[in-house]
Amino acid sequence: MKVLILAAGLGKRMKSKYPKVVHKILGKPMINWVVDLGKAFGEVGVVVGHKADIVKSYLPEDVKTYLQEPQLGTGHAVMCARDFISENEDLLVLYGDVPLLSKETINKLKKEHEEQKNQVTVLTFVTDNPAGYGRIIRENGKVRIVEDKDATEEEKKIKEVNSGIYIFSGKFVLENLDKLSNNNAQGEYYLTDLVGMAERSSTVILEDIVEVSGVNDRIQLAQLETIAKQRILEKLMLSGVTIVDPNSTFIGPDVEIGMDTIIYPFTIIEGYTKIGEDCEVGPYSHIVDSNIGNEVKVIRSEVEKSVIENKVSVGPFSRLREGTVLKEKVKIGNFVETKKTTVGKNSKAQHLTYLGDATIGEDVNVGAGTITCNYDGYKKYPTYIGDGAFIGSNSSLVAPVNIGKGAITGAGSVITEDVPDDALALGRARQIIKEGWAKKKREELKNADHKE
Ligand code: UD1
Ligand code: CA
Repeated sequence: MKVLILAAGLGKRMKSKYPKVVHKILGKPMINWVVDLGKAFGEVGVVVGHKADIVKSYLPEDVKTYLQEPQLGTGHAVMCARDFISENEDLLVLYGDVPLLSKETINKLKKEHEEQKNQVTVLTFVTDNPAGYGRIIRENGKVRIVEDKDATEEEKKIKEVNSGIYIFSGKFVLENLDKLSNNNAQGEYYLTDLVGMAERSSTVILEDIVEVSGVNDRIQLAQLETIAKQRILEKLMLSGVTIVDPNSTFIGPDVEIGMDTIIYPFTIIEGYTKIGEDCEVGPYSHIVDSNIGNEVKVIRSEVEKSVIENKVSVGPFSRLREGTVLKEKVKIGNFVETKKTTVGKNSKAQHLTYLGDATIGEDVNVGAGTITCNYDGYKKYPTYIGDGAFIGSNSSLVAPVNIGKGAITGAGSVITEDVPDDALALGRARQIIKEGWAKKKREELKNADHKE
């Protein structure tokens, strides 16, 4: 089926410069929660309006967008996306500000829709506070929805309400969309009026109201964050991941973690991240969009857009930036920063180092305080370090530069030229010894004191 997401609304109560649907839950913009859900069911289209350009910038390329300007109601939103609707396919309608809906619920709705051969199937729920929602009215085996502002006192007492999620037959929508009018209390084109026009319609009542909870302000945003967080952590724990302190752990919806991995407190894992088995992550680690193997340790460190192979140890206090690749058994230690750098098997950079645009072989030791000088203020240049090389402490490797296999650079060297395999390179001033100089200086100073 086709999936149309309505996301043109203003979201005034967010008090934000940004459109409501780009605000994040567990590091993922609300609209992307809905788009990813929709993609599991078919081609996705999004109706944008308020701050459309910003919303569009968050959407994947294969999502079509339809501009609704001005916004004249949910029915008008669907009219604006008429070209997206197909006569031969069902149309699932979702809201961009309802992020926690599940696949299971959509599957139930789909099953009911197909079994009943409906023209429309409405997802509803029952609440003691129905104010603001459209009320569900059943007459002669059909469903009708009356909006809160148009409802009579009797109708207002109805507790079954419209979630705003529906499956329509595409053909039914195309044939009836033009019949919608804005002759109602709000002067809007109501999508809900289409429901009343259907001959064959029914509802699926949802038990878990959280799934259809919308976000209108930042309090609700935080409430859904708390619930989503708890659900994700529980799922991970039930699948064999130890979460030492669920209160201080934040894990996004697209994170996968293997069995017997332990997540220590104050850890945030976001984006499309995969972590293998038997790892130890945290305390105090932040991992985004990264791929991590088995038996890896990431302690008090930042990891972004990086690949970490098995048995690597990172941290404490390391920062792996975009394009870092650490091969098996690498050790990256405290105050080491890497960017667009591959570190070969068994190699180590344990202390106070910057490795940028570097390719480092196997069994290399990068001494404390080593810096790849990869930037001259205009361009970035690469550094290559061969297998088995030993970079002395406090070396500056001025790129572009190539350190040969098995080569050694003396501590404190500024290396500006390539070093051949197995050579020693020294790039520093020779040490000078002045015998007795210190003693003589002390005596001079003492004599000067006496004269005063
Ligand atoms: C709508 C339903 C109501 C239901 C409620 C559930 C109608 C007429 N009413 O209420 O029965 O109980 O949702 O939350 O459909 N949007 C657009 N363009 C517009 C108007 C809205 O894209 O012109 C989008 C909004 O961004 C939002 C969604 O549609 O994501 C719902 O809009 P909102 O104004 O919250 O819903 P209501 O019309 O109040
Ligand atoms: Ca609303």
